[in-house]
Amino acid sequence: MRNGSMCLLARGLVALLAVGGLSRALPAQQAALTPPMGWNSWNHFACKVSDAVVRAAADAIASNGMKDAGYVYVNIDDCWQGKRDSGGTIQANERFPDMKALADYVHSKGLKLGIYSSPGPKTCARYEGSYRHEDADARQYASWGIDYLKYDWCSASQVYKPAEMQAAYTKMHDALERTGRPIVYSLCQYGLEAVWRWGASVGGNLWRTTGDISDRYDRMSVIGFDQNGLEKYSGPGHWNDPDMLEVGNGKMSHDEYLTHMSLWCILAAPLLAGNDLSKMSPETLEILTNPEVVAVDQDSKGIQGHRVWQEGPYEVWVKPLSDGSQAVGLFNRGEDAEKITVNFSDLGIAGSASVRNLWTKKDLGSFSGSYSAEVPKHGVVLIKVK
Ligand code: GLA
Repeated sequence: MRNGSMCLLARGLVALLAVGGLSRALPAQQAALTPPMGWNSWNHFACKVSDAVVRAAADAIASNGMKDAGYVYVNIDDCWQGKRDSGGTIQANERFPDMKALADYVHSKGLKLGIYSSPGPKTCARYEGSYRHEDADARQYASWGIDYLKYDWCSASQVYKPAEMQAAYTKMHDALERTGRPIVYSLCQYGLEAVWRWGASVGGNLWRTTGDISDRYDRMSVIGFDQNGLEKYSGPGHWNDPDMLEVGNGKMSHDEYLTHMSLWCILAAPLLAGNDLSKMSPETLEILTNPEVVAVDQDSKGIQGHRVWQEGPYEVWVKPLSDGSQAVGLFNRGEDAEKITVNFSDLGIAGSASVRNLWTKKDLGSFSGSYSAEVPKHGVVLIKVK
C-alpha cells in the first residue's frame, strides 16, 4: 500500500474511533487515568453522613497531606437524598441544606465532590433512586458541580432482569455524558454478571468486583486475595474496584492495615479512604499517604498486579511498574510469623537485583537469585525490585 493511502486509512480509523463508542467516555476516562483516590463516607459514617461531615473530610484532606499524596475525591455515599420536587428534580434531604454550596466549598479546596445513586427506584438504604429519572438526575448532579457518581444496583433487581443490567448502566452513562460535565462513573453491583468483562464498554471508569468489605481481616483478605486473574480487565480509565479502604476504622491490627493498603496498591485499586479523617492517628495517616506505596498504586502504566507464587497461606504478588522495576508483596495470611521468599526467576530476573523496602523507605542492597524476609502474622513486606 502506498504511503498516502496508509495515511488515509489511519485517519479513517481515528475518525471511526471518534464517532464510535470508544471515545464516548473520554473526558471521565481522562480523569481516571490512574485509579481514583479520595474518601467516601459509607464505611465509617453510613447514614450519619451530613454536610458538616463532608466539609470536615474536605478540610482534613486539604490540610493533612492527603491532597498532596493524591487524594482528590470527597464522595458522599448513600443517604443524602430527599424528595423530588413537583417537576421531578431530586432534592437533597435536611442533612444537606445546599448541595451546590457544598460542591463550591469542596472545589474551593482544590478537591472534587462525588455522589451516589441507584439504577433502581430505591437505593440500598431505601432512599430515592434514579429509576426513570436518569437524565433529570444527571442534570441535577451537573448543575450542583458533581464530579463522580457511584451507581449502586440495589433495588434495580426488582425492575430489571440480569440481562438488562448493561443497558441500565449505559443509560446513566449516556445521561451523564449529555450533561457535558466530565463525571467519573463508578459501577457498583458487587461483581454480578462478571462485570469486569463489560464494565468498560458501558462507560464505567471503575466497577466493584465483590460484595461489601468490612473492617475485619477475614473479609478484607478474602476480597483482596480473590482479585487474582482479574488483572487483564483493568487499566488506565477503567479499573477493577475491590471496594473502599477500611484503614483506620479500628478493627484490624497495624499489620493487617499494612496488608490492606499494600494489596490494594498492588491491585491498582481505587484508593478511597473510609475512615473519619477528622480524627485520625498519625499511624493511619502514614499508611494512607506513604508516597512510595501510593506511587505503586498510581503508576502510570496502570497494570494490576497478580499472584506469582503461593504455598498455603504464604503468597507473593507482583506489579510491574513503568520504570521497569517491580513492586513485590510478600504476604503472610497465616497465624504466626514466617520467612517468605521471592525467587527472582518468578519476576523474570536472572541473577541479582536491588531491593528497597517501601514501607520503611530503606534500600536493602543487592540480592542474588532471591530475597527472603520474616513476615509477621497477617502482615506484609512490600518491596521494589529492580
Ligand atoms: C451497598 C454498597 C455499599 C454502600 C451501601 C449504601 O451495600 O455496596 O458500598 O454504598 O450500599 O447503602
